[in-house]
Amino acid sequence: MGATGTTGTALLHSLRALEVPVRALTRTPHRPLPGAAGPHDRHVEVRYADAGDPDSLRTAFSGADQLFLAMANSPAQVELETRVIDIAAHSGIGHIVKLSAPAAEPGSPVAISRGHHAVEEHLHASGLTGTVLRPYAFMQNLLRLAPTVAQGFVLGAMRDAPCNYIDCRDIGDVAAAVLTRRHLAGGTYTLTGPEAVSHPGLAARLTELTGRRIQYIDLAPDELRDNLIHQAGLPGWLADHVVEIQQLAIARPEFPTSTVTDILGRPPRTLDAFLNEHRTHFRAPNPADTQVSCQPTP
Ligand SMILES: NC(=O)c1ccc[n+]([C@@H]2O[C@H](COP(=O)([O-])OP(=O)(O)OC[C@H]3O[C@@H](n4cnc5c(N)ncnc54)[C@H](OP(=O)(O)O)[C@@H]3O)[C@@H](O)[C@H]2O)c1
Repeated sequence: MGATGTTGTALLHSLRALEVPVRALTRTPHRPLPGAAGPHDRHVEVRYADAGDPDSLRTAFSGADQLFLAMANSPAQVELETRVIDIAAHSGIGHIVKLSAPAAEPGSPVAISRGHHAVEEHLHASGLTGTVLRPYAFMQNLLRLAPTVAQGFVLGAMRDAPCNYIDCRDIGDVAAAVLTRRHLAGGTYTLTGPEAVSHPGLAARLTELTGRRIQYIDLAPDELRDNLIHQAGLPGWLADHVVEIQQLAIARPEFPTSTVTDILGRPPRTLDAFLNEHRTHFRAPNPADTQVSCQPTP
């Protein structure tokens, strides 16, 4: 599930390379999958599935034996994911790999992580083999900073707290490994990149990358929330989430784990490599960008 999403796209790429048969589930099966063109697409069957439509799940799960469960964040996420697990358990699926998040625990200060905890518990109580992936922030999220980077700044509310960015392609490789190497099934894996980088450190790297001075502007949590809602147009629950994970990074400084290396036998992709690969994305401002970009709170 989530085959059209950031992680699902990466996982499909990894599974294509392994040439294992896979069913890619989406609510829009008529649209081409991101990155679908390739020599191994004969192994990928695209099917309709909507977590809000139980019949579609039963049909989509029929004959499958494992499920990768990634779901967009939303206020309905826990309800949708628990329904998916229940229907999977009645459809003959024996192993679910759930995409979760750090600090998935009952008292987590991050509401979405509390939701992930509830889903993890539901999975473990389901009788299925449950594997949990808890990646830190995706490097791919950084692409959304382009409009403010083009204007010379990065906004945040995490002071100089280090952040464990991970490239989603490493999450895809790990997910493919746990789906194809039986001894890895059933674990809970915290996934990070090779280094933790602060927002001031990120701004310094963007400065070097672009050849323009990129400044990190540290806001108070409420200021960041207001900015995300009124300038970036995020819904309140998502602005709250961004602020909560940044406050969590301050309260619990992030440190890299060796999990990706242990599972894949190679180190995770680096932030510098990711930024270099996407150098043109962080281009100089043009008039079209400035109409939709975020503004720092005065
Ligand atoms: N971003 C981060 O830094 C980060 C870090 C740690 C954990 N996470 C977790 O990662 C998860 C999101 O993963 P992602 O970023 O790879 O996903 P994403 O890019 O946001 O894609 C979301 C996927 O969810 C599917 N989806 C949404 N509603 C659905 C429904 N009702 N039924 C079936 N499918 C539905 C979409 O499929 P269609 O639209 O094609 O149907 C889409 O493929 C979240 O749970 C988040 O908490 C994210």
